Amino acid sequence: MARSSKRTYDVVVYGATGFTGRLVAEYLAEAYGFDRLKWALAGRNADKLERERASLAKRWPAAAGLPLIIADSFDPESLQVMARSTRVVCTTVGPYAKYGALLVATCAAEGTDYCDLTGETQFIRRMLDDHHATAQRSGARIVHCCGFDSIPSDLGALVFQEHAIAAHGQPADAITLYTWRTKGGASGGTIASMMNVADEARRDPATRKVLFDPYALNPEGQRQGPDGRDLMGPEYDPVIGSWVGPWVMAAINTRVVRRTNALLGYKYGESFKYREVMRFGDGLRGRASATAFSLGLGGFMAGVAAPPVRRLMQRWLPGPGEGPSREAQSAGMFELRLIGTVRGADIRVKVRGEKDPGYGATAIMLGESAVCLAKDRRETLKTKGILTPAAAMGMVLVERLRRAGMTFEVM
Ligand SMILES: NC(=O)c1ccc[n+]([C@@H]2O[C@H](COP(=O)([O-])OP(=O)(O)OC[C@H]3O[C@@H](n4cnc5c(N)ncnc54)[C@H](OP(=O)(O)O)[C@@H]3O)[C@@H](O)[C@H]2O)c1
Repeated sequence: MARSSKRTYDVVVYGATGFTGRLVAEYLAEAYGFDRLKWALAGRNADKLERERASLAKRWPAAAGLPLIIADSFDPESLQVMARSTRVVCTTVGPYAKYGALLVATCAAEGTDYCDLTGETQFIRRMLDDHHATAQRSGARIVHCCGFDSIPSDLGALVFQEHAIAAHGQPADAITLYTWRTKGGASGGTIASMMNVADEARRDPATRKVLFDPYALNPEGQRQGPDGRDLMGPEYDPVIGSWVGPWVMAAINTRVVRRTNALLGYKYGESFKYREVMRFGDGLRGRASATAFSLGLGGFMAGVAAPPVRRLMQRWLPGPGEGPSREAQSAGMFELRLIGTVRGADIRVKVRGEKDPGYGATAIMLGESAVCLAKDRRETLKTKGILTPAAAMGMVLVERLRRAGMTFEVM
């Protein structure tokens, strides 16, 4: 097996022809250029990749020299060549449950670090069951969920508990993350991933069980704890004096935070409780908005799961390669707040990012995760296997993201 230190590239951006992969490539070009970081573009279609490189070179002429790697996600040999060429594969080829398994297997076998944007719990669970032990043996760090799901939650909870331990001598035994404000859109790949999860859940009761298990991503033998199901309907929250409702990403983020706690040897405590909800405001208006949103979300999920309704919905939803416009991405933002108490003291942590959370901000989070895995090996290389962002990169990644403009702040 090729040693990770002898590899040609630091990072390969796989899926560089897709909506999000293109944004990641642009972020790396802007933030790291072409000398400080050795990187390449990868995908299955040589013509499309060449067009992508030419388009990058219009803004950054040196991009004309970016190497291209052709690899199809169903072709094991091409994936092996790619995985052996680089320290880190940074992939936006999704839905991951459809296209991602062989790449995870290859990186795990080759000792190649890996990061992605999946939020597909059932896929991550399969990767854990099938490849965690191999990755531990090879030394690979496989890090799923390096985008809006689940970096703000996972690193927000870490920042919260680091502060609680430093200031009060112990972690908080419960944290709620409130989606305070968000402004953003969805791409074709994200819609396709949601539809694929719905299809798998409809076909397979075992998948449904995994999706509803709050501890589905914990290590085997540690899949129990005090948390129950995610919030499904409106509820008044006295802590923030506001109505709250379901937060669509709680289904993946909460599982990731719980896995982090387990991987960190229960740094947050064995009875730690974690939940995520969306804030809607107070009074009758807040209640009506929380109720309408809960019903709308339920209707959307039911529509996605029912093929005839879905066909209708697809007419208005973005297709592969499509997503929010450049203007919409720049106008986007997110602000999340994590709130809990330790020894009677109230702790509040704000996590904020500019740009559309799922795209502009996600490209920064994924790009920085890839660079962190490639460049901060000594500071981060303690855990191996299938990890979470906080367990793999922790405060080193927090500092990188702060330098890239994100806020993680104890208020
Ligand atoms: N967690 C988050 O916050 C977040 C945010 C954004 C996106 N995502 C996820 O990221 C993924 C990508 O989304 P997107 O909107 O960027 O999708 P997209 O525009 O449809 O791009 C998909 C990419 O996958 C490539 N691809 C498809 N089949 C392939 C194969 N067999 N072999 C190699 N490459 C293949 C496509 O290549 P071609 O160009 O050749 O077709 C394209 O580059 C989705 O799973 C989405 O859910 C997550």
